[in-house]
Amino acid sequence: MPHDPLARPPFVRVAEVSEIRPGTSKLVVGPFDKPMALFNVNGQIFAINAVCPHRGGPLAAGTLTGSVVGCPWHGWTFDVTTGQPDHPGGHSVAAYDVKVEGGVVYVGWLTR
Ligand code: FES
Repeated sequence: MPHDPLARPPFVRVAEVSEIRPGTSKLVVGPFDKPMALFNVNGQIFAINAVCPHRGGPLAAGTLTGSVVGCPWHGWTFDVTTGQPDHPGGHSVAAYDVKVEGGVVYVGWLTR
C-alpha cells in the first residue's frame, strides 16, 4: 500500500519529561489541530484536550489534585488519565495515547 503523505504519524514528540514535574502540567500547541494539556501524575504522563468543554477554560493552567484537574475558570473537574469526569453526570474531554522514550514525551491517537 502506498504511503499517504497526509497521514499523521502515530506518535509526535511534544515535550521533555523534565519539563513536567510530578503534579504539574504543560500546554502543547502546534503538532495537533487542538491545544493539548500534558499532566504528570506520580511520574506518569497523560494527555487530554486543553480546552474545557464548559466555556473554553485553559485546563493546562488548572490545579491538579491526584489525577483530577480542576478548570481554573469555574471548577469543572476531569480525570486526566481518562478524560472522563471525576463525578457522575460530568462532561468529558478527549484523551490521547502517550509514550515516553529516553526522557521524551510522545503523544499519539485518541484513546477514546
Ligand atoms: S470554562 Fe472550565 S469550568 Fe467553565
